[in-house]
Amino acid sequence: MDATEEQQQPQEAAPAELQQVEDAPAEHAGADGADPMASLSKTQRKKLMKRQLAEERKKQRKAEEKARRQAEQERRRQEGRERLAAMSEEERQKHIEERNARGVARKAERQGAKARMEQALVSGQRICVDLAFSDLMLDQENKSMCKQLGYCWHANIQAATPAHLVLTSMEGQMEEYMARQVSGYKNWKATITPQPYIEHFADCKDKLVYLTADSESELQELDPEHIYIIGGIVDRNRHKQLCFNKAEEQGIAHARLPIGDYMRLASSTVMTTNHVFEIMLKWLELRDWKAAFEAVIPSRKRKQDEGEEHDGAGEEQDQGQAEEQQQQPAEQQQQDQQQGEQQEAEQPPAKRQAVAEQS
Ligand SMILES: C[S@@+](CC[C@H](N)C(=O)[O-])C[C@H]1O[C@@H](n2cnc3c(N)ncnc32)[C@H](O)[C@@H]1O
Repeated sequence: MDATEEQQQPQEAAPAELQQVEDAPAEHAGADGADPMASLSKTQRKKLMKRQLAEERKKQRKAEEKARRQAEQERRRQEGRERLAAMSEEERQKHIEERNARGVARKAERQGAKARMEQALVSGQRICVDLAFSDLMLDQENKSMCKQLGYCWHANIQAATPAHLVLTSMEGQMEEYMARQVSGYKNWKATITPQPYIEHFADCKDKLVYLTADSESELQELDPEHIYIIGGIVDRNRHKQLCFNKAEEQGIAHARLPIGDYMRLASSTVMTTNHVFEIMLKWLELRDWKAAFEAVIPSRKRKQDEGEEHDGAGEEQDQGQAEEQQQQPAEQQQQDQQQGEQQEAEQPPAKRQAVAEQS
């Protein structure tokens, strides 16, 4: 069954199953004979059952995927064993030595990354994502925000000069979304707090700089003493000047990225949260805005030749893509990513994302 069929099947099957449930309410009676669904309206019962069915199917899909992965692993192991058996003694020794050396290199790489992240918590550039906007986002936008945080985190682990990532206002609905969408995020080597940044950094308010495309002041370079705040919001720029107004009201500094000095964009200079974070990481590594923008800003957002408008709808389009991709089955996303179809989108390859979610 391909991914499309798999996605369609539950939708086709659901109404019949839901109808059965509706026709047989007695099956839902509790131990005391009371029907726990009796107090629910017909629509609520349908919704509840639909959710339960979706969850069961998700579990089943996961189990099938796990079995498939295990079978694939076993097949590879078997192939390896056969290859080894066909080798001469000398070839076998060489193969084992090479394999061990690769293992050692991987371990060293992991340890190096861990040490870099620990150091970043102590002395890395502080970059804060302000997560106080959950209420202004739709369900898909909240989910997209969680994904973007995963990308930020993963970009940070991969970075030559990781930042000290600070996530503020991680509470209420936002925290619930994160717990559901990005399991394991609490283990990230980052500062994660329910406090708003203005309280968390109460003793250094003069060091706060809210990044916003609406600011008239342009960033020249990152000051290691400053704390740069990025708005953690996916809104297709529906909430105009949101972060600019917030910074003004709180009396804190603000600045925009100097994109216009180095690159002509096909549309707005409003970037997604993770793109802004990644641009800053690149700047920390290279100390060069042009190189940082070129490394992160998707080519479809850039103005091509004079007079030629690309397809850019700025941040709005990026976010739309992120949301559409979220609605695809995970397997399909993985295939697309493996085929390099999303090279320009903000998503890192599926493998990177998986690491981000597990880390
Ligand atoms: C999707 S944007 C939010 C747009 C939102 N409507 C607003 O008015 O702030 C996410 C965040 O990325 C940062 N950002 C995006 N583009 C930027 C730029 N060109 N310069 C500085 N910060 C930017 C801002 O912190 C912004 O809050």
